[in-house]
Amino acid sequence: MALGRKTLISGVKPTGRPHIGNYFGAMRQFVDFQDEYSSLIFIANLHALTTEKNSKQLKQNTLDVAIDYLAIGLDPKKTLIFKQSDTPQVAELAWMFNCLTTVPYLMRAHAYKDAVAKNEEVNAGVFEYPVLMAADILIHDSDVVPVGYDQAQHIEIARDMARMFNHTFGEIFKSPKEIILEGMKIVPGTDGRKMSKNYNNTIPLFATDDEITKAVMSIPTDSSTIDDQKDPEKDNVFALHKLFSNKKELAKLEEKYRKGGIGYKESKEILVKNISTFTAPLREKRAKIAQDKQSVLDMLDEGGKRARAKAEEKMEKVREIVGLTLSESSL
Ligand code: AMP
Ligand code: TRP
Repeated sequence: MALGRKTLISGVKPTGRPHIGNYFGAMRQFVDFQDEYSSLIFIANLHALTTEKNSKQLKQNTLDVAIDYLAIGLDPKKTLIFKQSDTPQVAELAWMFNCLTTVPYLMRAHAYKDAVAKNEEVNAGVFEYPVLMAADILIHDSDVVPVGYDQAQHIEIARDMARMFNHTFGEIFKSPKEIILEGMKIVPGTDGRKMSKNYNNTIPLFATDDEITKAVMSIPTDSSTIDDQKDPEKDNVFALHKLFSNKKELAKLEEKYRKGGIGYKESKEILVKNISTFTAPLREKRAKIAQDKQSVLDMLDEGGKRARAKAEEKMEKVREIVGLTLSESSL
C-alpha cells in the first residue's frame, strides 16, 4: 500500500456463494480500484454472526470468500485482504459508538426496519449492524467505500458516527464516501426483484454452465411471440443482457426486441452463452486457487496481522482521546 493514496475499504459477508449482483454491484470495483487506492478488503465474519450459527459453515464460507476474492483478481500484494475478526478492535470501537448513538436513531435503519416489518426475530446484532460497520470503515481512516446501493444508508450512518465522535471528543475520524456504480445500483435477480441470497433468485458468479442455464431459463417472461414487438425495459432477460453485452450487441438486441424478430427463448440462450463466456475464466481460476488452501490461509493470516496492527495504532489514539488510557502525563 503506497503512501499518499486515498484509502478504500469494503467487505462481503461470508453467508453463501457470491452472485453476479455482488460482483457487478461491488466486488468488481474492489479489483478495478486496487491500483488507484490503498485498499483493504475484508471478509465480514463478525457481521455474518447475526445470521450464521453453524461454526463449520461459517469457517467454510469464510475460506470461500477469500478464494473468491483471489479468483476475481484481488492481488494480496496490492490489497490488504483479511477477515474482520482478526481486527477485534472494531468491536471495541463499536462499543464506543454505541455509547454516543441513540436507540431511536438506529431504529431508522432500513435493514432493521425491514426485519421488523417481516416480523423476523431481530437479534441485537442486527440492530447494531450499522454501528459495527461504521467501526470497520472509520478505524482505518477510509476515504471511500465501494458498495451496492443497499449499503448506502450504512455509509451515511458511518459519517454520522464520525461526526458525533469528533464533536464529542475531538477530530479523529475521517468522513467516508460511498462509491456506487450508476447502472449497477441494484442488479435484478431472475424474478426481477433485487438479486439477493435471501430470495432464491441469484445467478452465482461461479455457477456451472448447467446452473447458469437453469437460472436463466427460469426467468419469467410475458406471452409475446417471436414476431411481437417487445419493450426491452420491461424484460428481466434484457436487464441481465445489459451486464454481459457490449454496447453494439446490446443495441442490436434492443432493436430486435423493439421491432420483433427475437423470442425470449433465443434471448435467454444468448444470455446463457454470454454469462458463461464471461464467468468461465473466473471459475477456472477459482478451481485452481482452491487446490491450495494452505496458501489462502497463510495469506489471510498475514493480512490479519497487518490489518490488526493498523487498527491497533488507531485505537491507541482513540483510547487516549476518550479517556481510557492512563499515564502520568495525561492525568
Ligand atoms: P453481501 O453479500 O450482502 O455481503 O453483499 C456484498 C456486496 O454486494 C454489498 O456491497 C452489496 O451492496 C452488494 N450487492 C448485493 N446484492 C446486490 C445487487 N442485487 N445489486 C447490486 N449490489 C448488490
Ligand atoms: N454490510 C456489508 C454487506 O452486507 C458488509 C460490510 C460489513 C461492509 N462491514 C463493511 C461493507 C464495511 C463495506 C464496509 O455487504
